[in-house]
Amino acid sequence: MVISKTAPAKINLFLHVVGRREDGYHLLESLFVFTETGDVITVSPHENLTLTLAGPYAAALGAVCPEAEQNIVLKAAVLLQREANLFQGAAITLEKNLPIASGIGGGSADAAATLLALNELWQLGFGIEKLAVIGLQLGADVPACLYQSPLMVSGIGEHFEPVKLPGPYSVLLVNPHKELSTPSVFGAFHASKDECFLPSAPLPAFRDPLDFNTWVREESQNVLEGPAISLCPEIIDVLGALKSHEGVELVRMSGSGATCFALFSDPHAAGKAHRALQQSNPHWWLKLDKLVAG
Ligand code: C5P
Repeated sequence: MVISKTAPAKINLFLHVVGRREDGYHLLESLFVFTETGDVITVSPHENLTLTLAGPYAAALGAVCPEAEQNIVLKAAVLLQREANLFQGAAITLEKNLPIASGIGGGSADAAATLLALNELWQLGFGIEKLAVIGLQLGADVPACLYQSPLMVSGIGEHFEPVKLPGPYSVLLVNPHKELSTPSVFGAFHASKDECFLPSAPLPAFRDPLDFNTWVREESQNVLEGPAISLCPEIIDVLGALKSHEGVELVRMSGSGATCFALFSDPHAAGKAHRALQQSNPHWWLKLDKLVAG
């Protein structure tokens, strides 16, 4: 039996910091959405737990994480084995298609997809809520990444409510090939004028896509954008390049960066922007995809 799960890119349509816990973790309010494609986790029966890296970013991941045991995918597998009191192994392959340390979920999405795949392979029958409790031990974004559909996320990532997007969206993701570490971006947040906890606020109800697009654009933000720019000024070029295209509904940085995104209601406009950026910025990582609507 071979089981494959997509580990899609996670995009924060907005990210507000509303407080901080005593252990230093930040309390967030963030609208998480997911692309249709991303990394791929494949598992099959095996005596031991093994991990093979494949795909365009396998070498980059191997360089920052040379010990397989330190890879969040194997950590997820070991944790699940322990929770299930199980002695079965699995051969796991991670096809790394998304750039690493880039603010679009990466490791968290891979860990979540691993939990989903091994839950099936080992026939554990764990519900998503139980997998979320296990996932939170691996990283704050792992529980949300198990759902792979739009969620309003709060706490450090342990509370979520499903959200339905008001229409289909195409998304263009751009990374200037710069890695940013999440703790260093939070560090820059505290060192900057952006260090201000926003008041907690529920997501309003939206009449239609126009209402939604306007609210997200005008009433929300990613408070980590300024701090990330202070560490990686290329983000300004990426945001500027994305904003210059016709039909763009929203341009923003995702998570702690450096990946930025542009949302389009019209897939043709998205395709046109993608082709133009491929021409003008051949060294950037670009990905044209669709958002899962929920
Ligand atoms: O949980 P995860 O490993 O994804 O987080 C990486 C780092 O990002 C944490 O060690 C912490 O420094 C920071 N972080 C935070 N508040 C969050 C999520 C992450 O301060 N809600």
